[in-house]
Amino acid sequence: MRRVKQVLSAIRAEVTPQDAAFVAKHLTQSELELFRQMSLPDQRHCLNVANTVAELAGGLREVNQPVLIKAALLHDVGRRRGDVSTSDKIMAVISRAVFGSGFAQKWGKQGRGGAWENLRHAFYVSANHPEIGAKLLRQAGTEEQVINLVRYHHHPAGMADSKELSLLRQADDLN
Ligand SMILES: [Fe+2]
Ligand SMILES: [Fe+2]
Repeated sequence: MRRVKQVLSAIRAEVTPQDAAFVAKHLTQSELELFRQMSLPDQRHCLNVANTVAELAGGLREVNQPVLIKAALLHDVGRRRGDVSTSDKIMAVISRAVFGSGFAQKWGKQGRGGAWENLRHAFYVSANHPEIGAKLLRQAGTEEQVINLVRYHHHPAGMADSKELSLLRQADDLN
């Protein structure tokens, strides 16, 4: 239900000049372009996740704070503005809540077209945005540590996960 609430509250999303300054401080020019290619609600979500990781990791010496904050700001860049309509996105969110993430992985199909293709594309993006984002970040010259955090942010938790990855997942769930 948190995901559904997330979509509904996103309708009122905004990015303040203060947020914009925060983003510009942490990202390179090409990363900034990717950040801006997300929808406003996704930009807001990533900013909220970045604020949460900063709170959770504040004072933890073993955590690479700049890497973690950058990964938080960029973790959903695989979801690009205009690629998926709001109603298709809501369908994908509801289906994930009801059937789990495996369904979108199986049924999703890349490529926009008619209403049906667009819905399948939304499921594809929902299931594959970590990989899509990792690829975009590699092209942007982002450091490997950040790319890996983005790539694995929806993978099930494992013993070998870094502290940064655990904090990113935790903050993503809270937002
Ligand atoms: Fe995500
Ligand atoms: Fe997210």
